[in-house]
Amino acid sequence: MTMNNVDQSLIEAARSVATHAYARYSDFRVGAAVLTRTGNVYTGCNVENASFPVGTCAERNAIAAAVAEEGASVQFKQLVVVAFHRGQVRPCSPCGACRQAIWEFSPDAEVLFFGPSYQLQRVLAKDLLPN
Ligand code: THU
Repeated sequence: MTMNNVDQSLIEAARSVATHAYARYSDFRVGAAVLTRTGNVYTGCNVENASFPVGTCAERNAIAAAVAEEGASVQFKQLVVVAFHRGQVRPCSPCGACRQAIWEFSPDAEVLFFGPSYQLQRVLAKDLLPN
């Protein structure tokens, strides 16, 4: 898949924030970067907890940052997720709960992630979470 400069800078933002992940239980370090319709970029990483369900995903943390800054009418153009395990990029698409959270704000957002054979995938939120 071809990448433009916007894709590349979002991927770089997601890679960078993944280094901040608090992932002591899984060592699966995830970064997300979301580009809003106003042109701003917000990032989030996963934040785990000894009580596993308390942990939060990178994508929803990035979404929370975007809503906190731009307010309830925020809309997303693109969201990128990048994951690392033992220092290497791993395939990772948003979990079901994160798909629902992205769809809530922007069914037409493009979601970019590395698929099972490590190619960059580009899928609309409404196609990740149909119906
Ligand atoms: N995780 C994310 O942050 N985003 C995803 O899309 C998949 C999974 C996190 C949750 C948990 O901290 C760790 O990765 C392992 O599942």
